[in-house]
Amino acid sequence: NELKKWVSVLPKVELHLHIEGSLEPELMMTLAKKHQIKLPYANIEEVKSAYNFDNLQSFLDLYYLGASVLKDEDDFYQLMWNYLLKCKEDNVVHVEIMFDPQTHTERGIGFDVFMPGFKRAIQQAQQQWGQSCLLIMSFLRHLTEQSAIETLQASTAYLKDIIAVGLDSGELGNPPEKFTQVFKMAKELGLKRVAHAGEEGPADYIWGAINALDVHRIDHGVRSIDDPQLIAHLIDSQHPLTVCPLSNTKLKVFDHMQEHNILTLLDLGLMVTVNADDPSYFGGYLNDNYHALIDHLPIEKHHLEQLVKNSFNASFMTTEHKQKWL
Ligand code: HPA
Ligand code: ZN
Repeated sequence: NELKKWVSVLPKVELHLHIEGSLEPELMMTLAKKHQIKLPYANIEEVKSAYNFDNLQSFLDLYYLGASVLKDEDDFYQLMWNYLLKCKEDNVVHVEIMFDPQTHTERGIGFDVFMPGFKRAIQQAQQQWGQSCLLIMSFLRHLTEQSAIETLQASTAYLKDIIAVGLDSGELGNPPEKFTQVFKMAKELGLKRVAHAGEEGPADYIWGAINALDVHRIDHGVRSIDDPQLIAHLIDSQHPLTVCPLSNTKLKVFDHMQEHNILTLLDLGLMVTVNADDPSYFGGYLNDNYHALIDHLPIEKHHLEQLVKNSFNASFMTTEHKQKWL
């Protein structure tokens, strides 16, 4: 397929990627052995066959379990390095990577362990092939706002390495308004803001992310389609949506890729982008997500060009840096 080949080699940007969700079964098993951690999997095949999800929570359970093998600086380096090699392979020239500090601090692993590991890999990729990379610190919304505030405070020494804060984990029952104070504090510290909203949760949570958290982008946002007023607002405001096609079908947000609304949203004039979310759990990296759209939706070259252009424009790159690519 010509379109697939063409999009594969095109310079692209990724804006919605959880580094803990790029942990491949191979590295998971290697690290479990290294640290003598018992996992409920006998081999790599068993890990892969466990990745059959009914909803967001059934995925999150295995995602947090998988992350438990990450313990020392070198583990975090290896995790980041493996993902950055994928960026090179998929020609993802700029990436904004989310990490979940609380997934690690709750296990007694602090910023001084994971941040040096992440930074070493990023510096190496930058030196070796000019990889551009920014970090987004994401709060777990199933925990309290106080825990998010403590996380923000614990990140002080690394604020210069962090471009934005985000909000992820179980959406239902954890509306954006729960995190109003910590997002306000982050804004005062000069951090940009993104939040998962309207993945499993209602369109109201997208309004909440915009109004209470003052976000620059919405992660997912596909449930915006349920609220005509919100759609009109998103067309007008051009708040980017970081849509993740393979994630949405794996987690049953849409039963089949043919039912995905990304093309509808794009044709309506929303600022839509394509992303991988948690590639090792959802069956593919960025190119695989573009390929899935090409395979299942009546998508044309001009749509793909718009999606790629949108990701450059929706990124937190400096204007000069953007101009190099657009
Ligand atoms: N949604 C919510 N939380 C997450 C996700 C997601 O897609 N990936 C990792 N944590
Ligand atoms: Zn996500």
